[in-house]
Amino acid sequence: MANFLAMFLVMEMILVSGFRSGASGLNMNYYLLSCPFAEPIVKNIVNRALQDDPTLAAGLVRMHFHDCFIEGCDGSVLIDSTKDNTAEKDSPANLSLRGYEIIDEIKEELETQCPGVVSCADILAMAARDAVFFAGGPVYDIPKGRRDGTRSKIEDTINLPSPIFNASELIKMFGQHGFSARDMVALSGAHTLGVARCSSFKNRLRPVDPSLDSEFAKTLSKTCSGGDSAEQPLDATRNDFDNMYFNALLSKNGLLTSDQTLYTSPQTRNIVNSYAMNQALFFLDFQQGMLKMSMLDVKQGSKGEVRTNCRKIN
Ligand code: HEM
Ligand SMILES: *[C@@H]1O[C@H](CO)[C@@H](O)[C@H](O)[C@H]1NC(C)=O
Ligand SMILES: *[C@@H]1O[C@H](CO)[C@@H](O)[C@H](O)[C@H]1NC(C)=O
Repeated sequence: MANFLAMFLVMEMILVSGFRSGASGLNMNYYLLSCPFAEPIVKNIVNRALQDDPTLAAGLVRMHFHDCFIEGCDGSVLIDSTKDNTAEKDSPANLSLRGYEIIDEIKEELETQCPGVVSCADILAMAARDAVFFAGGPVYDIPKGRRDGTRSKIEDTINLPSPIFNASELIKMFGQHGFSARDMVALSGAHTLGVARCSSFKNRLRPVDPSLDSEFAKTLSKTCSGGDSAEQPLDATRNDFDNMYFNALLSKNGLLTSDQTLYTSPQTRNIVNSYAMNQALFFLDFQQGMLKMSMLDVKQGSKGEVRTNCRKIN
């Protein structure tokens, strides 16, 4: 009898922990019954898209970050502008946001399988997670159940961090969203993927920023001779999720002011050193940071909707 009871309690614990994820009301198995193939569908489409164009992993990860930092993870970044509303997407801060077509394709497939069930915010959160994995980064699960928001305004994008921020400003802005300095540094490690345009780093070239390696400065000047939208990889392996980004910071090869400052500043230098030395530690902290980011101000119930088209409010 006692054994039976104990077993029952253990099962109960497994069920509760599996189905609920704290006060947020999101949970890991949200679509288990309503759309059982949601996760594999997202994974397959992301995988196929990245096989065609591996640079899109960066696009998906950055898009999820921008979504979550503005009005919470509610798919607001996906909304197109209309004649009465200029959406977040059309902010200068959207530069290089890429991967909208992948989200559209996933949404279309999910609407045929289980109409009106899977939110665009969840699709983006899952797609970013899968992109990290396919690029060679950590595997992690995130709870689902976000609802899509009904506001997307260009003026809200002032809440994104600027590439010319110093470590104190970054710590402050991430702190406002509940992140520690360590979370912020780990999340900045997303810059192991992708590129930035000259307009995002040319502030460091004239005069040459003393925290920028002089040879690297020459490379960047050459890139910028191609104009403001010329692209420079954020680390030496732009399609591989690894800790090269942190190693580059140690040799003054960080691309943005907001990258290099993490090493220049005594507030965050030890964290950079530890990730440069230990990729597994970076992966662990990164997945924890992403999990936390994926739950920023999520909307639930009547506070949101499930869009049928990720680009339009229903
Ligand atoms: C710490 C503060 C951050 C700042 C100031 C910042 C700023 C930027 C800037 C300016 C670019 C280049 C845009 C362009 O020139 O086209 C960029 C690219 C990127 N950012 Fe960040 N970012 C930050 C944090 C993050 C976080 C937390 C993530 C995700 C978790 C992220 C993911 C990315 C990715 C993947 C790219 C490359 C995009 C591509 O190649 O399409 N960033 N970021
Ligand atoms: C980003 O915003 C610019 C205007 O600042 C706009 O021309 C461009 O189409 C937008 N990019 C995307 C991908 O929406
Ligand atoms: C960081 O930037 C802020 C705002 O521009 C400035 O007040 C502060 O002194 C800077 N901190 C460092 C360490 O440079």
